[in-house]
Amino acid sequence: MQVNGRVVENPDHWVSFEHDRILFDGRPLKAKARRYILLYKPAGYITTYKDPDGRPTVYDLIQEIDTFVSPVGRLDLETSGLLLLTNDTNFAERLTNPDHKVQKTYLVKCADLLTDEALEQLRKGVELSDGMTRAAEVRRVRDSGKYSHIEIRITEGRNRQVRRMVEAVGSKVLKLVRTAIGPVEIGELKIGTWRDLAAEEVAVLSGARGRANASPTKSGSRGRARVRPSR
Ligand code: URA
Repeated sequence: MQVNGRVVENPDHWVSFEHDRILFDGRPLKAKARRYILLYKPAGYITTYKDPDGRPTVYDLIQEIDTFVSPVGRLDLETSGLLLLTNDTNFAERLTNPDHKVQKTYLVKCADLLTDEALEQLRKGVELSDGMTRAAEVRRVRDSGKYSHIEIRITEGRNRQVRRMVEAVGSKVLKLVRTAIGPVEIGELKIGTWRDLAAEEVAVLSGARGRANASPTKSGSRGRARVRPSR
C-alpha cells in the first residue's frame, strides 16, 4: 500500500480517507459510502450474521443491500421492531454507548395487570443481576383483560433489559416491540421491510443536529416520526 506516495507495510498504519491519498496495488482506494438502514425486524430473526442452528437472520431481510452493514446493538430473537444497521462505526458507537443516553422506546405486553406501584418502580429503577437500572419513562398504554400494555423508554441497552425489568416487578413480557430510537420512529414501515435513514435522521442521531436523545412524539408509536425523511 502507498500512502501519500510512500510505501507502507505496517498493517496497523492509520490512514484518513479524507486527508490521505491511498493506493493499493497501484489503484486508488476509496472509502465505502456510508449506509444507514432502518429495518422492522420481525420476531424469530436473530441479529447475528450466521446462526449455527440455521435460524433466519436479519441479513436474510436485507439481501439487496450491497454494502456490509452491522446491527447497531441487538434485539433479542423474540423481540421485534426498529433495528438500525450501518457501516459507520462512529454512528453505531454513539447510539450504543450508554453515556450518550439515547432513548430506546419499547411497547410491552405484560403477562399480568401491573399496579401503579410496579410502574413507579420501573420508573425509579429496579435491581437486576448487573446492577440498578437507570430511571426510565414508563406509561400505561392500556389494560386489556388480564394484561397491561405499557410503553417504556430506557437509555441503556443491557442484554434483555426490558424483559428483566418486567420480571423484576413480578411479571413477564409476552410481546416486546421497539418502536423508536431517539426521535426516529418505526412509523408506517411494514414488518420485515427496511428503508434508508434520511440525512436529517442520521444527523439527529449522530448528535450533529437536534437531540439524539429526544423522545418521539408523545402520541406514542402510532404517531408519525418527528424526524421525517424529506422527499
Ligand atoms: N430489551 C429486551 O429485553 N430485549 C431486547 O431485545 C431489547 C431490549
